[in-house]
Amino acid sequence: MNILLLGSGGREHALAWKIAQSPRLNKLYIAPGNAGTKEVGINVPLAVKDFEGIKTFVLEKDIHMVVVGPEDPLVAGIYDYFKEDAAIAHIPVIGPSRAGAVLEGSKEFAKAFMLRHHIPTARYLSVTKENIEEGLAFLRTLEAPYVLKADGLCAGKGVLILPTLAEAEQELKAMIGGMFGVASATVVIEEFLNGIECSVFVLTDGKDYKILPEAKDYKRIGEGDKGLNTGGMGSVSPVPFADRQWLEKVEERIIKPTIEGLATEKIDYKGFIFFGLINVKGEPMVIEYNVRMGDPETESVMLRIKSDLVDLLEGVAEGNLRERVLEVDERTAVCVMLVSGGYPEQYEKGFPISGITEAKATGSILFHAGTTEKDGEILTAGGRVLAVSSYGANKEEALRASFAAAQKLSFPKMYFRKDIGFDL
Ligand code: AMP
Ligand code: GLY
Repeated sequence: MNILLLGSGGREHALAWKIAQSPRLNKLYIAPGNAGTKEVGINVPLAVKDFEGIKTFVLEKDIHMVVVGPEDPLVAGIYDYFKEDAAIAHIPVIGPSRAGAVLEGSKEFAKAFMLRHHIPTARYLSVTKENIEEGLAFLRTLEAPYVLKADGLCAGKGVLILPTLAEAEQELKAMIGGMFGVASATVVIEEFLNGIECSVFVLTDGKDYKILPEAKDYKRIGEGDKGLNTGGMGSVSPVPFADRQWLEKVEERIIKPTIEGLATEKIDYKGFIFFGLINVKGEPMVIEYNVRMGDPETESVMLRIKSDLVDLLEGVAEGNLRERVLEVDERTAVCVMLVSGGYPEQYEKGFPISGITEAKATGSILFHAGTTEKDGEILTAGGRVLAVSSYGANKEEALRASFAAAQKLSFPKMYFRKDIGFDL
């Protein structure tokens, strides 16, 4: 089978690494990929939203399946684009239809969907300039801190958590006034949920599903979860509090009603669902849906999938996922993200990375997030540069391995968090 994978981050390198292990694979192409995906496939200089270019490519290279990494092409309707074009309609796209991608593309839709299907989530009100007074009144019924979410996609920046009512009122007006452009013309005001987060991933063919290993990610730049939000500084899988009993609640109260809800609403969904959950006194609640895998969760989750991922993806495409087997590795997997100094604010790139061979020799796996290759040298090309992933009998052992491998790597102003997993 020839596969085209879309995306260019650490998540895509991890997916590519796993796909490349399949005995079913003939050729793997990654568009656009990065310096790491080159090790396991062929990079193609195509943008993830260049649907016409992708169509020409899949026909030319006899691609049998397209796997979509990031949300953007899904929200833009790549699934429907393929379905509606007779020349490529036979090529399965792993990812939801445009209607399904709205679960991530619109917070308001996601909240209303959860309400319709009795899925536990925070109390909320959706506000536009038409009912801003009602929004301000709703804020006054809540306790601090206050959660404001731009309805649309904002590259992970659309959620504000404000400590005081005055700030919440001010920011609500600013958001509706265009702080995030059209994405915040509608704002979801939400009750703040106090608890610890967990990311649960499901692969579905629209009828059946497989629950992939769960993970916890670390979003803040500073140790102790302090400082600015980032694209993710590390992850750990499994998550100790997500024991069998807790995951059964997640399955019964959240996963099943979501899959059934999509089916009853006739929303075509064949792909990954990422449930962003929070554990409130032992009860799982949904913070958000994403319609893709998480980053940097994928960089630990892929290590724990023993089965052939291509076989599972084929089950999704053919609608017989029920017959496929998902075997999970009992070991712990972690990832520690090496970032450019200054990130997530100003940072420099283009620095050579040294120690890659030495780091790999320790047994850890390196997933490239923001790298590029120039004259045979690997250079930094983003804020998040490399994910250092490792196995261990427990999280301490796995983290020790990742930190030891990280010590072998260096580039000017390299930074990483040394407390990944501290709260578990
Ligand atoms: P989101 O973009 O929806 O993932 O939100 C970003 C982050 O804000 C989440 O990962 C949570 O840490 C936090 N968050 C979002 N909604 C809530 C909520 N209702 N209560 C507490 N924290 C929240
Ligand atoms: N790790 C969170 C996300 O991928 O959105």
